[in-house]
Amino acid sequence: MNVSEAIQSRRSTRYLDPTHKLTDDELRKLLSASMLAPSSFNMQNRHVVAVVDQEVKDKLKAAAWNQDHVGTASAVLVFAGRLKAHRATDRFLRDAAKEAREMFEAMIPDFYEGKLELQREEACRTVGLAAMGVMLTARELGYDSCPMIGFDPVQVSEILGLDEDHPPLMMMPIGKATAEPHPRLGLLNMEEVVSLDHFENRAFTGEIEN
Ligand SMILES: Cc1cc2nc3c(=O)[nH]c(=O)nc-3n(C[C@H](O)[C@H](O)[C@H](O)COP(=O)(O)O)c2cc1C
Repeated sequence: MNVSEAIQSRRSTRYLDPTHKLTDDELRKLLSASMLAPSSFNMQNRHVVAVVDQEVKDKLKAAAWNQDHVGTASAVLVFAGRLKAHRATDRFLRDAAKEAREMFEAMIPDFYEGKLELQREEACRTVGLAAMGVMLTARELGYDSCPMIGFDPVQVSEILGLDEDHPPLMMMPIGKATAEPHPRLGLLNMEEVVSLDHFENRAFTGEIEN
């Protein structure tokens, strides 16, 4: 499966085989995809908890308004941010060349320190990119997924032992689909969501190429 095929065939899938298990290699491949995602200054300001234990999945399901796919998934990935990641340059720049490390260390505090909204935004950006990589890799492996925000973050933090610096930003059941996804709810046309050179210039028109 090439990248375009993975993008086009990815759908939020809510019917999953509860008996299906991922192999360790498959889970490792999905998690690697999350780790290879880009992040500002290479901060890697995210942490993924991969849940395969049925008891924990059931608790997460209860914290997610009983959405079925959380309980039937082969694995539920919970993507947390790492809000104060910028302080740990010794961690995420440990392999950088001396000049690059010094340059980044001089820039990072001004950029992020004390800016709570930016720290959270940055974590959302990083988690979003990581999540997309995982969903496309799932397609390559023959699996389906569903990105989710329909959960209580306080309960999820309690269940997984996440601290304040690691808020859960996205939950993602992954598994073997047992049914076709619903028809798409409908995609906006290109001129509604894309501009050329200036916001007002809607030069690209028509439906997306599918
Ligand atoms: C941030 C975000 C939160 C979402 N939350 C949920 C959710 O809690 N439960 C669910 O079943 N789907 C959830 N979805 C899936 C969307 O409903 C779905 O992406 C959208 O309808 C488009 O369909 P598609 O993903 O099949 O293309 C979420 C998607 C995103 C990106």
